[in-house]
Amino acid sequence: MNTILITGVSTGIGQSTAAYFLEKNNWNVYGSVRKSGDAGDLGGNPNFHELVFDVTDRPARQRELAKITANGHALSILVNNAGIAPSGPLEVMPAEDIRQQFEVNVFGALETTQDALPQLHATREKEPELPVRIINVTSVSGIVTSPFTSLYSASKFALESLTDGLRRELLPFNIDCVSVAPGPVKTPIWRKALGREHLYEGTRYDFILDKLESYVSNAEKGGIPAKEVAEAIFAAAIAERPKTFKLLMAKSWPVKLLGLLPTRTVDKLIWKNINSAKRY
Ligand SMILES: NC(=O)c1ccc[n+]([C@@H]2O[C@H](COP(=O)([O-])OP(=O)(O)OC[C@H]3O[C@@H](n4cnc5c(N)ncnc54)[C@H](OP(=O)(O)O)[C@@H]3O)[C@@H](O)[C@H]2O)c1
Repeated sequence: MNTILITGVSTGIGQSTAAYFLEKNNWNVYGSVRKSGDAGDLGGNPNFHELVFDVTDRPARQRELAKITANGHALSILVNNAGIAPSGPLEVMPAEDIRQQFEVNVFGALETTQDALPQLHATREKEPELPVRIINVTSVSGIVTSPFTSLYSASKFALESLTDGLRRELLPFNIDCVSVAPGPVKTPIWRKALGREHLYEGTRYDFILDKLESYVSNAEKGGIPAKEVAEAIFAAAIAERPKTFKLLMAKSWPVKLLGLLPTRTVDKLIWKNINSAKRY
């Protein structure tokens, strides 16, 4: 049996990915939740092991990761999936929201990787043929920045860069690091981040607030199912030579086109979209 650790399996992509690996029957699946019991139905599978930690909590993270070796399992795949997406205008976003975005999406992923790496090295030494990998769940927001989710984008740009850095630093040890970058996915991530819009009432950005709800429901309606991301993560885990960056969208050509256009044209196109309320 191979062993995988996925952070953030309470809902969405993490939960779907854990379920997908469990269906394959030859994986020990460790999944992290912040509250015991949050893994829901996954908990009924004997090959699922719940770890309880917040990715920003080093002692808890280290204590829980130690359970993998204590169980005699050799970790070969780490999926850094846990993430949050608070939105708002950069000018008036509270410092705590700014910091928390990076604490979870960037430092949480990097420090989980640091804590998991001794186990990944040990597996590599014991089983030279086994794929030993780190898979970071990044986003299309890690290649295109939309206003008012700019901070989320900044965190995903950072995670893309860390992915390249880790892959290059770990090359001598034959441990791979790749990213899977979905566009909108049907998960509760944006809805979970709602509730702080009042912070922007009365600021010069309150004109954007009524577009927020339509953005969230469009992202949910137009998103791909989380299972498609799970399939891409599975492919990245088992492929002989996985793509270093896998963009995963129903229609990826508009994003690729944006990359070819002059930046100021992209600025105008984005605002045209916002004004038509397709996307804020
Ligand atoms: N949905 C999309 O459209 C989309 C697109 C591209 C990329 N992504 C990325 O996909 C990943 C998963 O997101 P999702 O869409 O599946 O959202 P989700 O359903 O909200 O799942 C996020 C997971 O991360 C966990 N989490 C949040 N903060 C945490 C913390 N401090 N410590 C540990 N776990 C924490 C959540 O746990 P709780 O339930 O306890 O909050 C949840 O299990 C994220 O990295 C996200 O950026 C999502």
